[in-house]
Amino acid sequence: MVSCPHRIADVSRSVPVVPAALLSLALTLTLTSCTGGGGGTGERSLGAAGVRDPYFPKLGNGGYDVTHYALTLGYEPPSENEDDRLRGTAVITARATRDLDAFNLDLKGMDVESVDVEGTAARWKRAGQELTVTPGDGLDQGETFRTTVRYAGTPETVTDPDGSREGWLRTADGVLALGEPTGSMTWFPGNHHPSDKATYDLAVTVPEGLRAVSNGELKGESTEGGRTTYSWHTAEPMASYVATIAIGEYEIRRSTVAERVDGDAGGLPVYVAVDPAQAEDSREVLGRIPEVMEWAETNFGPYPFSSTGAIVDEPEDVGYALETQNRPVFPGTPDISLLVHELAHQWYGDSVTPKSWRDMWLNEGFATYAEWLWEEDDGGDTAQENFDALYEGEYFEDAASNEAVWDFPPAKPPSAARISDSPVYERGAMVLHKIREAIGDDAFFGLLQDWATTRRHGNADTADFTAYVEEYARKRAPEADLTPVWEDWLYGEGKPSKA
Ligand code: TRP
Ligand code: ZN
Repeated sequence: MVSCPHRIADVSRSVPVVPAALLSLALTLTLTSCTGGGGGTGERSLGAAGVRDPYFPKLGNGGYDVTHYALTLGYEPPSENEDDRLRGTAVITARATRDLDAFNLDLKGMDVESVDVEGTAARWKRAGQELTVTPGDGLDQGETFRTTVRYAGTPETVTDPDGSREGWLRTADGVLALGEPTGSMTWFPGNHHPSDKATYDLAVTVPEGLRAVSNGELKGESTEGGRTTYSWHTAEPMASYVATIAIGEYEIRRSTVAERVDGDAGGLPVYVAVDPAQAEDSREVLGRIPEVMEWAETNFGPYPFSSTGAIVDEPEDVGYALETQNRPVFPGTPDISLLVHELAHQWYGDSVTPKSWRDMWLNEGFATYAEWLWEEDDGGDTAQENFDALYEGEYFEDAASNEAVWDFPPAKPPSAARISDSPVYERGAMVLHKIREAIGDDAFFGLLQDWATTRRHGNADTADFTAYVEEYARKRAPEADLTPVWEDWLYGEGKPSKA
């Protein structure tokens, strides 16, 4: 039997010719024989390989909180006989939330070349999407540590439980990375659960002539030896599922949102990147971003981030938009409702983020209700009319879609495959409308803003929300009876008997 090697990673340094894949296989075998024999001390403190998300139990990791990701990426486009390639260095700053002898990161695919912790090579092994890191010295609870992962390969595209595609998505002239709910682990290692938000620095080097667009603000752009590096900084906490990177040719349009609710005279920067093929088509609707943002701030309160915008591209096999932080991604020119939906998510989803994937309706119910409010203010159907149309089965064109609204309660999707179904969106919006009906317009619009402010840059689950609404109603609408809203509309099976 092999004896337990102490510093396996040191071996990889002295034998750099071993391909990473083989090396990682060797490590897996060796480590298994070390830890699997039952001869351990029994006192090892391992960070959990998941945070027990009810729908994605292996997502995320316990035992630490990431505060910052510094990602340095190099992108090589595909050639005639080779796939595109990504080389990355991820420097992850985290705080141990308990004593740790080892911790996990999520990374799907890619070859890991090395891992260090606080500048010292660490042992690591891989099993599925789990990258387990064992530092030479254990980490103490409360300690802030830095781990660096070097990796390379061709990132994967993943298929969601609902059949949609995410992760590393190819476009005609580059790629677009989308991460809801699990795709971000295809292009960088991390704690890929919405409950662990962090700030980001992302430097991407691409062949000169291509452009790289991401979240936050563009801090630098420099070209050397035929390669251009774009440096993006995200100053506000971000869940990894709304992190994005778009590489390709883009027309860039900058503007500002002039009217701010907090009176900020400087205005809010707007950065829009559009695939040239969509440039003409999308000009008008994207030109309305400042108008939508002003409307949204009036309704939802101060915008929680330091810039806004949009990315329009045409990823293969993808027909959905995503509320990527600062600048949502659209798979083609959006209509005004979709633009409103994704920008509303910046408050509800990106800033106030679900604690788990069960709380999706807190994202989608709010963003759908935002569409209704826009329509109402724009002289179209009122929210009440949209609510009634759903209740009467006249909202969608086809009967099956109208029926599907009652498939399950918004707060309890039956499986991971259904977290983006109509009950989460439309019936979620109906829950909000029932709250509005119960507490009255004044209190309701106050609540929309106050909820976003109270939970700004944080996480919340359904129970947090209902407790909050109860508390808010006690102050603003003491007569309101919210029990039927929760029992029948939020948690109840089937179609409630009374609209
Ligand atoms: N959140 C996206 C929206 O704006 C839709 C979406 C994309 C989605 N991928 C998802 C929802 C995965 C749930 C799960 O509506
Ligand atoms: Zn949405």
